[in-house]
Amino acid sequence: MTEYQTIRTSAGNGVGWIELHRPHKLNALSTALMHEVVDAAERFDADESIGAIVVTGSDRVFAAGADIAEMEHKSGPEILRERFFADWTRFADVRTPVIAAVSGYALGGGCEVAMMCDIILAGDDARFGQPEINLAVIPGMGGTQRLVRAVGYYKAAELVLTGRIIDAEEAERIGLVSRVVPASELRARAQELAEEVASRSRPAVHAAKASLDAALESALAEGLRYERLAFAGLFDTADQKEGMAAFTQKRRPRFSHQ
Ligand code: COA
Repeated sequence: MTEYQTIRTSAGNGVGWIELHRPHKLNALSTALMHEVVDAAERFDADESIGAIVVTGSDRVFAAGADIAEMEHKSGPEILRERFFADWTRFADVRTPVIAAVSGYALGGGCEVAMMCDIILAGDDARFGQPEINLAVIPGMGGTQRLVRAVGYYKAAELVLTGRIIDAEEAERIGLVSRVVPASELRARAQELAEEVASRSRPAVHAAKASLDAALESALAEGLRYERLAFAGLFDTADQKEGMAAFTQKRRPRFSHQ
């Protein structure tokens, strides 16, 4: 495993884990941390033994946002010239499904990183919010765009305009999280869920993720065309033949991920 300063990584049973680890700064998302997360995610994505990735924080905090100390004295032109935050797009773009396992605070960039993931599993102690307005800025890692798509305009607008922090139960009710689990079981449940995804045929999983992404990024007709082509493409995989043969033969499929 690569040596990282701001994250920890591990892997087992087809699942790669990325743990945000800046304990004294509540996992504030510095540029260095972004680069390490992107590097780790892309390495897992290129590793054929990995079928799902979990991103998590500590028990107390997923991430308390972008690193305010790093941004405080920047000018607008500097933010643009440095393409500040831009590499998070590479994290959102990995082919492998990513599960966010959120305990404690997921604020600002923390909430935005969770929304870059495909499934958000929340401990019952999780807290979500986009409090940037309190700092006289706005979300800058996709929050205004992904939150609207996740929960609809009126909930997103209320959260972004007031900075109100919501608990796990409300986050689940409005559609910001996939599922809430007892905080003490979060890691085990995330591993279980990730193993379930990793056990499926990789070409089908990658096609499903890309097709779901197309739903967020395109008009319906364009998305349907994308899905139709992706669906057809899977009929040239060995796993499709195996999956359907196993169904008709009433046995479990053995996927080769080809
Ligand atoms: N960026 C940089 N440092 C941060 C940070 C951030 N987003 N969030 C927390 N920290 C640092 C604090 O400065 C403090 O560092 P210090 O001990 O060197 O002073 C340390 O993490 C602990 O934070 P603290 O505020 O003392 O913890 P708390 O339990 O009292 O409050 C929060 C927790 C999450 C409510 C509070 O830290 C907070 O509001 N953070 C900012 C959230 C935010 O606005 N995010 C959007 C950023 S654009």
